Amino acid sequence: MAFNPIDVKVISMPKHVVERVKTGVPGLDDLLNGGFPKGTTVLVTGPTGTGKTTFAVQFVYRGAELYDEPGVIVTLEERAQDLRREMLSFGWDLEKYEREGKIAIIDGVSSIVGLPSEEKFALEEGLNVEGFLRYVYRVVKSINAKRLVVDSIPSIAIRLNEEKDIREVLLRLNTILLEMGVTSILTTEAEDPKSGKISKYGVEEFVSRGVILLDLIEKDVELKRYLLIRKMRETKHAMKKYPFEITEDGITVYPSGEIY
Ligand SMILES: Nc1ncnc2c1ncn2[C@@H]1O[C@H](COP(=O)(O)OP(=O)(O)OP(=O)(O)O)[C@@H](O)[C@H]1O
Ligand SMILES: [Mg+2]
Repeated sequence: MAFNPIDVKVISMPKHVVERVKTGVPGLDDLLNGGFPKGTTVLVTGPTGTGKTTFAVQFVYRGAELYDEPGVIVTLEERAQDLRREMLSFGWDLEKYEREGKIAIIDGVSSIVGLPSEEKFALEEGLNVEGFLRYVYRVVKSINAKRLVVDSIPSIAIRLNEEKDIREVLLRLNTILLEMGVTSILTTEAEDPKSGKISKYGVEEFVSRGVILLDLIEKDVELKRYLLIRKMRETKHAMKKYPFEITEDGITVYPSGEIY
């Protein structure tokens, strides 16, 4: 039988294309094939003062400023007004975008310390897990947020009235975030990442689809900042420590820099 090329069908399966969300951190998207996978939950962890809050706020701020994506910041460690003031040192005027309905800050601090809150969005005292999740859900929907930050996980545990298994709380949070379709950053503490323990409770990294570690390393009696992508599902990424800086413009990562 003569060979008929029409009989030969080359079936090429279309590759699943992962939609990416720009991180807003210069240098970082290059290390992530263009950004975080859309809808993913990323844990940003590290010791104190390594830039976790700055990283998280930068993600939401640049989202509103550069990509027209509304974002919600749940601040559980510092009052919304303190966060706004601190972020002004990077030239980030959160209030401007709050007025435009592109950013919403949920103040989770004022009520527990007994201070009156003038905030539009504030968590009431004595909230349980369901109440907390429901409130966040409502605010996300109200501004049609595409980005969300919760700073920080250890403060959720302290903030909530009910003593619940933190893993269960995180699983619920993660499920609700996936349902909302937002791309999220959760921050947590890692006192000494070199010991191998990269989160406070040791469970945060399991419910997150991505983990980014911010840390310091000593070099010639000077501490240098570095960033490590520990995991990022659906993404081919290097497992290298990259230098980064915090300047008056926020965080910049140097993909071709060396930390040693
Ligand atoms: N305007 C600025 N310019 C340069 N560096 C800054 C500026 N503001 C803050 N920093 C640096 O960022 C660090 C604090 O970053 P950030 O608050 O994001 O860290 P964090 O990991 O959230 O800390 P914590 O564990 O206390 O919550 C400061 O210690 C300082 O080194
Ligand atoms: Mg912080």
